[in-house]
Amino acid sequence: MRFFLDTADLTEIQEAVAYGILDGVTTNPTLMAKAGVSDPESHYRKICEIVSGDVSAEVIATDYEAMVEEAKQLANIHPNIVVKIPMIPDGVKAIATLSQLGIRTNCTLIFSPAQALLAAKAGATYVSPFLGRLDDIGHDGIALIKQIRLIFDNYGFETQILAASIRHPKHVIASAEAGADVATMPFKVLQQLFKHPLTDIGLERFLSDYRKHLESTTS
Ligand code: E4P
Repeated sequence: MRFFLDTADLTEIQEAVAYGILDGVTTNPTLMAKAGVSDPESHYRKICEIVSGDVSAEVIATDYEAMVEEAKQLANIHPNIVVKIPMIPDGVKAIATLSQLGIRTNCTLIFSPAQALLAAKAGATYVSPFLGRLDDIGHDGIALIKQIRLIFDNYGFETQILAASIRHPKHVIASAEAGADVATMPFKVLQQLFKHPLTDIGLERFLSDYRKHLESTTS
């Protein structure tokens, strides 16, 4: 499973890259605003220089012509840019056109298997089912990943499942079990993946036992 960081924060991306396990980045307009980005183009370029892997950059336009035009500009920034397009009728139409042009896309705001199927038929590179937001309204985000996996495998769609709106480590593991190709997560969740209290207790005990041993052999 590939790990993407769901952020526009350059420091977080640098730290995650340093772990040696980061495969890409996803952003959205909310995350760009949160990071205080004033020049999106140069910001996307910086992200692409830090991480070697796909970087999702979302269009702001919502009509077909403008989305295709914006997508071309975004795709021109760097070969690793994947253009994020919303799951609306004009978005699906734009994905179909961009796919013909060889521009890679990530269809965002996926909340149903029907939406994922439409995006895959249009030739999306990725679909992004939003787990956390589904769970928030009492639905089952992981069940959606399983449904999409089954459908894509039934028909041999190459569209990759990018589990998004991840809120905690259990979402990452359940997405992996359900066969998602990628999980995109906030930096906090990536850090939480390392944690287990028994690891901390175990390490502390190993070191203290060894210190005691050294003291006893040197005294
Ligand atoms: C996906 O690419 C989105 O950027 C993101 O995962 C949305 O997550 P949220 O529901 O925490 O805003």
